[in-house]
Amino acid sequence: MALSLHTKLCDMLGIEYPIMAFNHCRDVVAAVCNAGGSGVLGALALSPEQIAKETKWMRDHTDGRPFGVDLVFPLNIPYSATKQDLLAMVPPDYRAFVDKIKQDLGLPEEIYGGAGMDLMDLGVGGTSESQLRQLEAALAARPAIIAAALGLNREVVAQCHAAGAKVLTLVGNVKAARRAAELGADLIVAQGTEAGGHTGRIGTLALVPQVVDAVSPIPVLAAGGIGDGRGLVAALALGAVGVWTGSIWLTSHESPVADYVKDRILEATDEDAVITRVYTGKTCRELNNKYVQRWTLADAPKTLPMPLQNLYSPMPIMVSTEDEKSLSMFDKPELRDWASCPAGNVVGLIKERKSVKQIMYDMVSQAVDILGTA
Ligand SMILES: Cc1cc2nc3c(=O)[nH]c(=O)nc-3n(C[C@H](O)[C@H](O)[C@H](O)COP(=O)(O)O)c2cc1C
Repeated sequence: MALSLHTKLCDMLGIEYPIMAFNHCRDVVAAVCNAGGSGVLGALALSPEQIAKETKWMRDHTDGRPFGVDLVFPLNIPYSATKQDLLAMVPPDYRAFVDKIKQDLGLPEEIYGGAGMDLMDLGVGGTSESQLRQLEAALAARPAIIAAALGLNREVVAQCHAAGAKVLTLVGNVKAARRAAELGADLIVAQGTEAGGHTGRIGTLALVPQVVDAVSPIPVLAAGGIGDGRGLVAALALGAVGVWTGSIWLTSHESPVADYVKDRILEATDEDAVITRVYTGKTCRELNNKYVQRWTLADAPKTLPMPLQNLYSPMPIMVSTEDEKSLSMFDKPELRDWASCPAGNVVGLIKERKSVKQIMYDMVSQAVDILGTA
């Protein structure tokens, strides 16, 4: 059967191309929607008030096109706790190690905290209760999709469906895919280990068809290592209804990632994105940096489980130009090698800065060329 770029995903969401994009910036999300795909805002580090503001902006700038909001609902974290409760769980040798790094680098005690954010309000530093507050704020904007990462539960599915949002969830193995299907997910992203951000151990090529078979007829998107039209066609050939992409948008003109981080991505090779637990306590692929390396030395303690790792030793992520506080920390060029940037193995394929529209156009036209279809 000939493959076509028009898939079940296009019908389900009312989009032109079967391309979904994850990004932390509303401009990228809106640009993807306006170029015929569907953008999903990474909101785990946004307070409920910020989520309300960003979703309103996206609604005003996407002309009725379907956008989504991505939140995390990790299993096995406290439902409710004070910051003091959580900090009391951090062992003394761990504190000493992290405090010494902050002291050596001249970093402030609280690295986050700009724009009124408190880590306790955020997806990776907080509790299930704080994540449900984020969900409530997201659903109030009536997004087409809620993407749930790091876990899913019945309460989240029920709330999303009651608000008319489709539930998409990311999985890294067949067991998690079956669980997501049983919980009522509408779309399942089979994310291979190549992916930037939190990731599992199974490669995309092996994972996608196994997830497709396990959860049929629920539609599956492929993620992890997809950087151009070849990846899109491969995903369709594996039985996916489309692709879920992250790394390729980081260097787009619309992305607020600081220029020197964009340069690091453009210069990176296939070997430069590594898996580490230092970001949140869960396995996460990011560009290798001095902070990651520091945790591999003999005197480093074991990382702590989520949410403690992120609560006590947060390093600014990606050094967005919108986050002035973390950006100003990196005025000193020698600190820049310590900055964290989640990114996948596909970075070796990203060679130039482009607009979102151009990235979409290039991916679609290459896929069409390969397939010989329009
Ligand atoms: C900078 C960055 C941050 C990410 N943060 C999240 C996140 O908060 N929630 C989530 O569901 N996925 C997150 N991801 C993973 C993406 O949703 C996506 O699955 C992944 O990027 C796909 O692989 P690729 O990077 O090879 O395209 C992140 C990815 C990147 C690159």
